[in-house]
Amino acid sequence: MSGDLEIRPIEGDDEVRDCATLMVSSEPWITLGRTLEQATGIITSPIREVCVGTIDGEIVGFVVLIMKGIFVGFVQTLAVRPELRSRGFGAVLMEYAEERILRDFPNVFLCVSSFNEGAQRFYRRLGYEVVGELKDLILRGHSEILMRKTTGPFSEFRRRS
Ligand SMILES: CC(C)(COP(=O)(O)OP(=O)(O)OC[C@H]1O[C@@H](n2cnc3c(N)ncnc32)[C@H](O)[C@@H]1OP(=O)(O)O)[C@@H](O)C(=O)NCCC(=O)NCCS
Repeated sequence: MSGDLEIRPIEGDDEVRDCATLMVSSEPWITLGRTLEQATGIITSPIREVCVGTIDGEIVGFVVLIMKGIFVGFVQTLAVRPELRSRGFGAVLMEYAEERILRDFPNVFLCVSSFNEGAQRFYRRLGYEVVGELKDLILRGHSEILMRKTTGPFSEFRRRS
């Protein structure tokens, strides 16, 4: 694969199936027991914004954002195809997610599984800080680590869009 990553909203059933399949066949979701039905439900849910990164028309990875609710500006899922990891595509997808979220809100939130040390390192390197630990949230004996990148308090925030 060559060329730049193009990031755009997910389109059509084939792309939904590709992304859901990527999710269920990859850690941390294998350990978390995510089913294809659940993954498809997350990707097609109307409360979420899903974008794919493509090169030469092929999906490299995708990101799922939640732009409503208590932890508004939440990156729910980020995944890059296993054979294309550690080439910077994940960082580019996160850059896109941050740009989208920080236009409307001052915080980017995400959760990462306690056993997903590679992803924790990835997010720390991008400037995310641990702000909480949700014990036994999905699986007994494992936590979801809540992380945040912030530009400041809501009271000082001015929407860009
Ligand atoms: C985390 C992930 C999206 C990063 O994408 P990427 O394209 O590999 O990211 P980059 O090339 O920009 O950065 C590489 C870093 O990602 C992390 N990483 C690489 N492979 C990983 C894997 N299999 N699982 C988790 N993190 C991984 C490492 O910190 C790596 O840095 P290193 O090479 O110094 O160890 C990607 O590895 C992935 O899809 N992992 C599985 C799903 C996941 O853990 N998603 C995040 C939790 S929602």
